[in-house]
Amino acid sequence: MPVDKSETRVRRMFGEIAGSYDFLNHLLSGGIDIYWRWRTVRNVPARLVNVPVLDLCTGTGDLALALAKRTAAPIIGADFCHEMLDLGRRKAVKAGRAKQMSFIEADAQELPFPENTFQVVTVAFGLRNVTDTDQGLREMARVCQPGGKVAVLEFTTPRWQPFKFLYQWYFKNILPRIGQALARNSSAAYEYLPQSVGEFPSYQALVERMQAAGLRDVYFKPLTFGVATLYVGTKG
Ligand SMILES: C[S@@+](CC[C@H](N)C(=O)[O-])C[C@H]1O[C@@H](n2cnc3c(N)ncnc32)[C@H](O)[C@@H]1O
Repeated sequence: MPVDKSETRVRRMFGEIAGSYDFLNHLLSGGIDIYWRWRTVRNVPARLVNVPVLDLCTGTGDLALALAKRTAAPIIGADFCHEMLDLGRRKAVKAGRAKQMSFIEADAQELPFPENTFQVVTVAFGLRNVTDTDQGLREMARVCQPGGKVAVLEFTTPRWQPFKFLYQWYFKNILPRIGQALARNSSAAYEYLPQSVGEFPSYQALVERMQAAGLRDVYFKPLTFGVATLYVGTKG
């Protein structure tokens, strides 16, 4: 049976694990998630100071903060889970970026922004959770300026054996146990993680979905042997 990605389930799940989300992210990835976000920012730098940047499914705002550190442009983080957004807002204040950054509660499938608003639109580990992937991609493309960049950072399954075998063993057997034990929740959040990654389109398949959403020159870069992959497209 396909994994339940209904909006109600996904929002409740992230609301339940919000408090331990950052700690577990860094623990379960061995801190490498920080490097993946850094690579993302390097691939889609904000070049204009007056045009905003959107980070979708921003959660606790780690990618939004990484973007803010490399530009003076306004950064908007959007997410439909207010528990995650509250943490993001607090982190922006702590980082002294409260003026530059704002956080908005919004569904990625129906963004409250006019078309051609942002110079860069990003999403990290978020698109996989959006109920309708294609609608999420179309919205990202719609709100991006012509010539602007759309970046998707997402988990993928490594293709290189024997690393693939070891990684899948860790991802399917060890990670869900640690995650569930440390982030108590009723939504099986850390069982959902490998299931949703397994079902999500990856590599060339996601490139084709981005092209179908109206993006051109789409390319992908596997990171850390393909544990995560960065996809970048340009609004035509
Ligand atoms: C795994 S977290 C990623 C958070 C952050 N981007 C990061 O890199 O750590 C996924 C986030 O996507 C959000 N999300 C999922 N579906 C969404 C939707 N349809 N609209 C807005 N946010 C959504 C969740 O609330 C959650 O905060």
